[in-house]
Amino acid sequence: MLMQSQNQVQTKTPAEQEAMRRAGRLAADVLDMISAKVRAGMTTGEIDRICHDYIVDVQLAVPAPLNYKGFPKSICTSVNHVVCHGIPGDKVLKAGDILNIDATVIKDGFHGDASRMFMIGEPSIQARRLCETGFEAMWRGIRTIRPGAHLGDLGHTIQGFVEGHGYSIVREYCGHGIGRVFHEDPQVLHYGEPGTGLVLEAGMTFTVEPMVNAGKRHVKLLGDGWTVVTKDHSLSAQWEHTVLVTPEGFEVLTLGAAERAAA
Ligand code: MF3
Ligand code: CO
Ligand code: CO
Repeated sequence: MLMQSQNQVQTKTPAEQEAMRRAGRLAADVLDMISAKVRAGMTTGEIDRICHDYIVDVQLAVPAPLNYKGFPKSICTSVNHVVCHGIPGDKVLKAGDILNIDATVIKDGFHGDASRMFMIGEPSIQARRLCETGFEAMWRGIRTIRPGAHLGDLGHTIQGFVEGHGYSIVREYCGHGIGRVFHEDPQVLHYGEPGTGLVLEAGMTFTVEPMVNAGKRHVKLLGDGWTVVTKDHSLSAQWEHTVLVTPEGFEVLTLGAAERAAA
């Protein structure tokens, strides 16, 4: 495994942090906007089109995934056993599906990256529990963030919570530093040992985005080169926030309007 060297991870200046706040807000706004529209009968391609137009025409921003390393669409849509990086297309959403929408927006050169689970119609009790466990796992991880904490504390907390529910954590994909660059150091693993890994410092910005499988943790990449699915075809859920390390602890840059009002 690659060790994360402390000096490869840059901190953001106050001006850069302000730009990250603006970008994060826009990513959250995309998810807020689309949440009112997602419904059974819609295709993932339609969701992509609505988000794309909103980002480009309303936000005057750039959808980061589009053409990123050849990705063909503006958001990722990952349905049911798709773990991440699902490509929007002709797939029609039906009642009972669970869907992750992952939006990354570039504004004034800075990235905001967030994703949420959406439940179409009435999901099964198991599907709902999986989504709720993923959400709580992300938040428990985020709450470990403060200067002096180790990234291993975050990973261990998420892994322990998820595995305690009988679910598993995907290891092949992780959170990431973010700023002018979409994916930069550090790698933010969603498993690990307390007291290990990068020591956090105020001004660092990175994502927390655990992928939680109902079955085994193993994944496979489909032939399109992007879509990641669970090997055992079990359901998978993911939530993502972009976070700033502050002197006091953390600031979540991608809260939705409802969460901002409650804060
Ligand atoms: N938004 C994803 C993440 O959380 C990355 C998507 S890359 C893409 O890191 F090319 F698939 F869009
Ligand atoms: Co991300
Ligand atoms: Co993302």
